[in-house]
Amino acid sequence: MVSKTESNRKNSSVGITFLPEGKHLDIKCGSIVLDAARKLGIDIQAPCGYLGLCGRCKIILQEGKDLVEPPTVTEKKTLSTAELNDGYRLACQCKVSEQGILNVAVPPESRISQQRIVIQGIMPQFQVSSIVKDTIIELKKKQVSKSDSESLLEALSENGFTDVSIDIDAIRRLPDVLREGNWNINATLWNNKEVLSLQPKDKAGQILGFAVDVGTTKVAGYLVDLKNGELLAAVSLPNPQISFGEDLISRITYWSESEEKRISLQKIVIGCVNKLIEDSCKRFGVSLNEVYDIAVVGNTAMHHIFFGISPKYVGQSPFPVAVKNGFDVKAKDIGLKANPAAYVHALPPIAGFVGADTVAGILATEIYKQKETSMLIDIGTNAEIVIGNKDKLTCCSAPAGPAFEGAKIKHGMRASSGAIETVWINPKTLETGYKTIDETKPRGICGSGIIDTIAQLLKTNVIDDIGRFNKKLKNPRKRNQGKDAEFVLSWQNETSIDKDITITRGDIQEILLAKAAVYTGTHILLEHLNLKPNDIEKLYIAGAFGTYIDLANSFTIGMFPEIPANRTQFVGNTAGSGGRLALLSEILRSKAEKIARETKYLELASDPRFETEFTNALWLPHREKERFPTVMKMLGKH
Ligand code: FES
Repeated sequence: MVSKTESNRKNSSVGITFLPEGKHLDIKCGSIVLDAARKLGIDIQAPCGYLGLCGRCKIILQEGKDLVEPPTVTEKKTLSTAELNDGYRLACQCKVSEQGILNVAVPPESRISQQRIVIQGIMPQFQVSSIVKDTIIELKKKQVSKSDSESLLEALSENGFTDVSIDIDAIRRLPDVLREGNWNINATLWNNKEVLSLQPKDKAGQILGFAVDVGTTKVAGYLVDLKNGELLAAVSLPNPQISFGEDLISRITYWSESEEKRISLQKIVIGCVNKLIEDSCKRFGVSLNEVYDIAVVGNTAMHHIFFGISPKYVGQSPFPVAVKNGFDVKAKDIGLKANPAAYVHALPPIAGFVGADTVAGILATEIYKQKETSMLIDIGTNAEIVIGNKDKLTCCSAPAGPAFEGAKIKHGMRASSGAIETVWINPKTLETGYKTIDETKPRGICGSGIIDTIAQLLKTNVIDDIGRFNKKLKNPRKRNQGKDAEFVLSWQNETSIDKDITITRGDIQEILLAKAAVYTGTHILLEHLNLKPNDIEKLYIAGAFGTYIDLANSFTIGMFPEIPANRTQFVGNTAGSGGRLALLSEILRSKAEKIARETKYLELASDPRFETEFTNALWLPHREKERFPTVMKMLGKH
């Protein structure tokens, strides 16, 4: 039973202020600080989704330390004693318990920083023929016995459009438009089946569409002219769901916890897409009313959450998808801002971990129509891999994890301003050079920089082929830290974080796990299809991470099978390109259905070869050296 005092305490409120913004909110005792931050729009990272494990949601209690419950066991494990003494807490664990005034500072390292985002991708030649079209209809003058809608449907039928319905918003405007246009009108039709909008013949507006790529970390949008296919604006924002968990599993877990959380997760991403639509319409000087069709791509969990479909089982073996075909819903039904009658088309996913973004990538690279055999790799927290040609496509998803995005790396960070993205090491002196994003002082290292570093450390014999530091090496940049060893990339006086930036043995291990997953996926898929790396005539590397990696260094660490470099093409954000194609061409929209239906999915986790292959791929470049003859020759170890 809850005592009166206890219930009073729960109902009493605490004034919480976040600094340096100075944003204030009254919250109930028992509230979690991270929830309060979210209500105020304070951008605190929470990659592990409230588990208290990642340590990225650090806050500093500046006033009111006694108003919160003492640090939890998890916090004591994640935070150092010095941090706890200095008032550091984890926002996801810190629970308010007493009435009063609480001032909370959010340090820069806990903020969600603006990640460098790749919006554009390869776009093939195609014929524009969107599902939304304008048609001019000349009606007979009003007959007393007929309603306006009957007159319109009759005229449409005479023009070859039978079985047509009229959206309620168009019906609302119908009487005025007919008379204003003197019975000559322009009808905007969806799929030749539904009148979305009506205007007097001489006042027809534009017909626009919006393609959306909902990625786990970013959302990209493209405003296009549905008549001529022209790209009018390309915009993007970080996916705001990041503050609910960085990876798919944390978001699925968050979704499954309560109805309130489910709604907030969907609402926040819909809000993000609305902002992109509004911004791009404003930028191009057009009205939201002129947007009639929206195409959405994304990985399967993002796709499900976007449409309010439970993603719960997508994260559980055998990873079933709730819906495998493309479908259309009214934009207003999911809260998207566009013409009141506009539709949203969901491109189809292939499997639980191979989504509509991969279907879009197949469309954009056109591997589905080539005679030659191609491999498409899109690397994110999962690497989606597709191999095939016009006759057959097979895909799998390899669990690369978040290390390439800087997670679990001592000084790791996303590819945003100040991240070391390129590294070179003098083989004689081990003097190290680097380039940072935006050429500012370094504050961490991102995935491409880590790959460069490991490749260089291997080439200079600072590490061996299982990633261990050379014990005999004497150089100020290599030093021991307790049981671990590390290599200094940037000295304290060069950095903006007032600390040396280093790569540790543990960091190398994390990257080896990630690269081994990607390699294992490609290798097993090749074996499954009875192919050798040399049979791949074209290797397409897609995605933001792929765009910035150094190809030679990626081969050096054994991330991809040895496919000649001149067969490789970086293709950027193919998910966005494929979304645009499905928006602009009915034929390609149906092609996406066929691709999703016919692409075979190989489940890696249940493949008996996975464990051995994965363990062997943890070596640099691989335990079976003969798989990497070119790399071994370059390392002088053939
Ligand atoms: S430790 Fe708080 S979200 Fe990960």
